[in-house]
Amino acid sequence: MLACNGRSGHEESADLGCRLGMEMDRPFVYINMATTVDGKITSSAREYPRFASAADRRSMDRLRAEADALIVGAGTLRADNPKLCVRDDEMQEYRRSLGKPDDLLKVVVTAGAALPPDSRFFDDADGPRRIVATTETAPAERVDALENLAEVWRLGRETVDLTSLLQQLGARGVERVLLEGGGALNQAFLRADLVDELNLTISPALLGGRDAPTAFEGEGFAMKQQKRLRLADLRREGDELFCRYEVLRDG
Ligand SMILES: NC(=O)c1ccc[n+]([C@@H]2O[C@H](COP(=O)([O-])OP(=O)(O)OC[C@H]3O[C@@H](n4cnc5c(N)ncnc54)[C@H](OP(=O)(O)O)[C@@H]3O)[C@@H](O)[C@H]2O)c1
Repeated sequence: MLACNGRSGHEESADLGCRLGMEMDRPFVYINMATTVDGKITSSAREYPRFASAADRRSMDRLRAEADALIVGAGTLRADNPKLCVRDDEMQEYRRSLGKPDDLLKVVVTAGAALPPDSRFFDDADGPRRIVATTETAPAERVDALENLAEVWRLGRETVDLTSLLQQLGARGVERVLLEGGGALNQAFLRADLVDELNLTISPALLGGRDAPTAFEGEGFAMKQQKRLRLADLRREGDELFCRYEVLRDG
């Protein structure tokens, strides 16, 4: 393990979160994604991503345990139907030791509000703490149906105003937000300068394919506007690399 100092990367991240939270008047936002060596987050056919290891799942669980809220894009919810919870008992115990409630507050971001009502996101077993963040222009009948399943926040006209979303979450006491993709939503947060940290697992696999998505999709940046990162922690487990980057602020 290569760490920047004697402390674990997670402890350092938690400290950074507190500092940024105080300075920025919004929750600390950290992304977690797994990619192949060629930077793909799934195949061109958008199959369920199956290239990361058990170590990556443990790392994901730890990052979830440290979060107050977990956000995903509607594309990920529709494609993968993920179960957004801390899976491992030991990590759940760790979460309790941090003074956090058992259930994460789950948020899905969608402009059109077309979400399958039988998604795991809406499972009762996952607890009632879930929010659908959508737009003022989302069709009323879809929003009405979702209101039976979750809290629905309309924030923004055509797209969800992500700054408002974070402010509202902050008002609920949320200090740490984990963003778990996909590529379109990650890029929307990055474009709005709302990402503080990127946790990237690089798995020893190649998928290739022009249409296979990467961790940051949508409209990219011009060379002059590229986002710069600082490698805050790097660890190797087997053939997999676990990187933690701090996103440097513009200017
Ligand atoms: N390898 C990994 O770690 C990993 C992690 C997560 C996901 N993935 C993969 O990523 C793929 C999905 O990625 P994706 O880029 O297609 O989808 P995505 O980012 O999960 O979701 C995109 C959707 O989110 C909504 N959205 C995003 N930004 C918005 C904004 N500012 N306002 C309102 N709505 C917004 C829109 O929903 P509506 O269309 O409903 O309006 C948009 O179509 C899946 O195949 C999944 O397997 C991989």
